[in-house]
Amino acid sequence: MTPYYADDTVTLYHGDMRDVLPDLQLQTDCIVTDPPYGLMHTSGTCTWDTWPAGWAAVAATAARSMWCFGTMRTFLDRAAELAAAGWHMSQDVIWSKGSGTGVTADRFRRSHEIVTHWYRGQWRDIHHQTPRVPSTRPPVTRPVVHRTDSIRAGRNDIYTWKPAGTWTDDGTRYALSVITAPNMQGRSIHPTEKPAEVLRPLIEYASPPGGLVLDPFAGSGSTAQAARQLGRRAVLIEVNEAYCERIARRLAQDVLPFGASA
Ligand SMILES: C[S@@+](CC[C@H](N)C(=O)[O-])C[C@H]1O[C@@H](n2cnc3c(N)ncnc32)[C@H](O)[C@@H]1O
Repeated sequence: MTPYYADDTVTLYHGDMRDVLPDLQLQTDCIVTDPPYGLMHTSGTCTWDTWPAGWAAVAATAARSMWCFGTMRTFLDRAAELAAAGWHMSQDVIWSKGSGTGVTADRFRRSHEIVTHWYRGQWRDIHHQTPRVPSTRPPVTRPVVHRTDSIRAGRNDIYTWKPAGTWTDDGTRYALSVITAPNMQGRSIHPTEKPAEVLRPLIEYASPPGGLVLDPFAGSGSTAQAARQLGRRAVLIEVNEAYCERIARRLAQDVLPFGASA
């Protein structure tokens, strides 16, 4: 299949991911994606928000690890479909956006999004590395002791311990499960674009340096841009040609040599 766009790190295909992905026969380190949620489609007027039936099973052929954006309702409604495709949920992360969206007066104004992590097979076989971030707390230092030998006292062993210096933390802590980042209002090229500050920790968690990330619902191509910033490669699929065009322009600008003008 001919890509719509390709450079050293990113390949973009135009089409329905359910047709494109089987053709590619791809194995990737992880999927990071944001499918249409299927929440507004019940009126029959909102075609862009149609949940693509069967996509989770198609995605399962290309990775064993997947971050998927959605709402609690999306995941509750689609739990059986995800499970039938072999996906187990491991955790959820919240993106706290600051300002809210939504116009209904009968609900809280929504200022967060959920992204859930799914895996197939055995958890021990899944690449996962929680990113570390700078700690806001003062560094911690504590004494280190080593066990030397033991004596048998009845049914118990009694150990002796020897001081072995001190341990000081490295000024970092594991990233928290709530990521605060402003939404893309005023700077987006897609109405539901996710910021790189949210995507980067997800990609870092689920793929090794140099690894391959797949986003089969590419939108603005934000996943590829974040992957590239982290030294990963990416494959994108997008059904809407207008967005393919924008993605290609965005990615091409990114790879322009320093000092060149677009
Ligand atoms: C929620 S948006 C993704 C936005 C993206 N996360 C971003 O940061 O820009 C979902 C995208 O999937 C695309 N899409 C919908 N159905 C698709 C399908 N069957 N195959 C490929 N792309 C599809 C839509 O055109 C839309 O751009």
